[in-house]
Amino acid sequence: MNYRHIYHAGNFADIAKHVALLACLNALKRKDTPFMVLDTHAGRGVYDLQSAQSHKSQEAERGIQTLLQRGIDEPALSDYFAAIRARKGKRLSLYPGSPALIAAALRPQDRAVFVELMPAEARAIEREVQSAGKLNTQIEDAYESLKALVPPPERRGLVLIDPPYEEADEVKKLLRNLADAYQRWPTGLYMIWYPIRSAEQRRSMHARTEALRIPKMLYADIAVHPDDAGIGLAGSGLFIVNPPFGIESILLAAYDAIYRHIAAAGGYVEIERLTPEKY
Ligand SMILES: C[S@@+](CC[C@H](N)C(=O)[O-])C[C@H]1O[C@@H](n2cnc3c(N)ncnc32)[C@H](O)[C@@H]1O
Repeated sequence: MNYRHIYHAGNFADIAKHVALLACLNALKRKDTPFMVLDTHAGRGVYDLQSAQSHKSQEAERGIQTLLQRGIDEPALSDYFAAIRARKGKRLSLYPGSPALIAAALRPQDRAVFVELMPAEARAIEREVQSAGKLNTQIEDAYESLKALVPPPERRGLVLIDPPYEEADEVKKLLRNLADAYQRWPTGLYMIWYPIRSAEQRRSMHARTEALRIPKMLYADIAVHPDDAGIGLAGSGLFIVNPPFGIESILLAAYDAIYRHIAAAGGYVEIERLTPEKY
């Protein structure tokens, strides 16, 4: 596996994914009862935006750094800016990965399990991430953890599935495991990230996921280039199973703000139901 998230941390796709993650965590906290978060592809706790890798890719520069310079007063992004500890008019030197954002959101009664295949990334989580809730980091395969940990005894919670999509059969494996997990835990909140690389690939991703016939699925797509611009990552998508009430309007306002400040010509924001309430 060649993938290193340090090259991509703080890009537009991370921003979109983390805005949605925080909105879902906020929704879970509307009730006092405990919940569990499983982050199946956790990466590391915190990313150094001054590292050689981040400078080389310039992705954070075109993403979070541009957003902070241009749009710090956007109300739709204020929770997100607070969570990443952005300061008005300042550049960000450290970008929190999903484990850091999840950990900061937990209450004492909640817990999170971070799963990561690369030992160095997993150790960084253990070193750098603290929480009021209970944390457990495992060096394991994402889909094995999904089999072992879902459903959680709490019966409330969120699963974030955020693979690197480097392997040819990733989508197939992901969808099979999502369908299995959903069967075992149909009331869980699942967020699945996917890249948008072309119009055809996006259509196929939507169609294959819809074919699982999991009800109450939403997709939230943001493209900062036209789908067929041929630049690699044109956009970022999320499927949300059992989306919390009101999430569409929260994401629409936030994604519109992201789009306004960092999109090139072309692209779009599209947040819609993928599947009906019931089959
Ligand atoms: C996109 S990054 C994760 C980013 C992170 N979720 C965030 O939002 O900050 C994907 C991570 O998955 C890890 N990974 C790849 N294959 C895996 C597998 N089969 N099981 C668990 N982790 C895996 C990679 O090492 C990488 O750190």
